[in-house]
Amino acid sequence: MAEAQAQQRGGNAEEVSAGKTAADGVRFEVDGEIATITLDRPEKRNAQTFATWSELARIGENLPEQVRVVVVKGEGPSFSAGIDLRMFTPEGVPGQGSFSAAAKSDGATFEQRIRQAQAGFLWLRRPEIVSIAAVQGHAIGAGFQLALACDLRIVADDVSFCMKEPALGLVPDLTGTKPLVELVGLAKAIDICLTARTVRADEALRIGLAEIAVAGGDLDQAVQNKIAELLATNRDAAAATKRLLQGAQGRTLEEQSVAEGIEQAARLKALFG
Ligand code: ACO
Repeated sequence: MAEAQAQQRGGNAEEVSAGKTAADGVRFEVDGEIATITLDRPEKRNAQTFATWSELARIGENLPEQVRVVVVKGEGPSFSAGIDLRMFTPEGVPGQGSFSAAAKSDGATFEQRIRQAQAGFLWLRRPEIVSIAAVQGHAIGAGFQLALACDLRIVADDVSFCMKEPALGLVPDLTGTKPLVELVGLAKAIDICLTARTVRADEALRIGLAEIAVAGGDLDQAVQNKIAELLATNRDAAAATKRLLQGAQGRTLEEQSVAEGIEQAARLKALFG
């Protein structure tokens, strides 16, 4: 099924499973338990198109089973300057159409297109993996939302997050609104989005948008250090714990306690049963 979907989009699921692809400005590499996705259009500040999101979704659908950590990064000075602005022109991106053309289609078709784009972001929250955004320079609009799609954000001291969509007459629709509210709270999320202001490294750290901020030259090392810490824990226990943490906000204390017991019983059975 996943393979058929990948082939429909012109991709090759086997290449992803084998752990190395390069398509549509996205590079993908696997080294043991670590996968790295690199937005690779630095000359356009890693601006994103429908093809970028299809490629992200394809990687998610075919992620090799051994992968425990997924790093998402951007080549060059910026993590991502957001959606490719050509998508707002009547001509659009060659071969991919434009938003102005898509907006003329019926609502259901357009919403379906958005759901397809969102699929490139949603899989990064799977319990079986921990996703880390390594963010330097600009993370604007879709770039900010891609960073928000990851479990953790490690940033360089030149980072600037900006949710620019409302300034352009749009809403953030690439899965970013929920994680933003959960990370920084409703009031701060309203402040950040409805002013489309820039959030820099010191504030990102202070409000919980970033876990670690380091000098730009230390970003890769900081990510490697975090990966080493993450891989030091038991794989199945890590997945079960992430499931519990992800479910915590939607449950009462009593319900969460029951969920903890169920996960622990399964753990004990796996370890000693
Ligand atoms: N879409 C398409 N091309 C882009 C984008 C983008 N979002 N961002 C940058 N580029 C291109 C520029 O047009 C330029 O191309 P050129 O060399 O052919 O002229 C190249 O990338 C470099 O851009 P500069 O502006 O020269 O780079 P600089 O480092 O000075 O500025 C910055 C970077 C601040 C990110 C600036 O490019 C910018 O403001 N980009 C637009 C950001 C934006 O509005 N994104 C949409 C957000 S809303 C959403 O994502 C849904």
